[in-house]
Amino acid sequence: MKKLFTLIIMLFTLACSDIDSSKASLPPIQSNPNGDSELALLMREMFNDGMRMKKQIEKGDELEVLARFNKIHTAQATEPDKAASKKYKLYADAYLNMLEQLRASPKGATETLFQGLVESCMNCHRAFCPGPIVRIKKLYLKDN
Ligand code: HEC
Repeated sequence: MKKLFTLIIMLFTLACSDIDSSKASLPPIQSNPNGDSELALLMREMFNDGMRMKKQIEKGDELEVLARFNKIHTAQATEPDKAASKKYKLYADAYLNMLEQLRASPKGATETLFQGLVESCMNCHRAFCPGPIVRIKKLYLKDN
């Protein structure tokens, strides 16, 4: 169990850059020695904000969608090529669109839209960055 936990932490820390790297001859140490990319930091904020919203929903409080995260399009990524691709932009727009739908959500639709928001994180991550998926799954509301 502890091993698994360590592995998850490792995957999380390495973000995507080292996981699907095929450069086996180079030691897969952090590609960014000065710390984490702007995008990685933004993603952590998105995750934390997702957790905050999940808790509000679970408690039955009124959901507050506070942040906008439009910087997902411009933040410097560890692997800039990925974030410059057309596919990345489509996934990013899908995510931003879900966030706006959630913001405008009538009460009865909040849970469904929130699950859709998490799904929009998952879609991009399945395509570009599988490392944090284990962590992102924790955002799903339980009964789905
Ligand atoms: C459009 C694609 C895309 C969407 C949508 C997306 N991500 Fe990411 N995510 C990435 C990429 C690319 C990285 C790697 C960032 C880097 O290393 O520069 C990343 C990294 C992460 C990380 C690891 C950050 C770290 O500490 O290194 C987490 C956690 C994460 N995303 C969570 C989320 C959550 C939660 C959502 C939805 C609310 C989400 N992501 C939506 C592409 C996406």
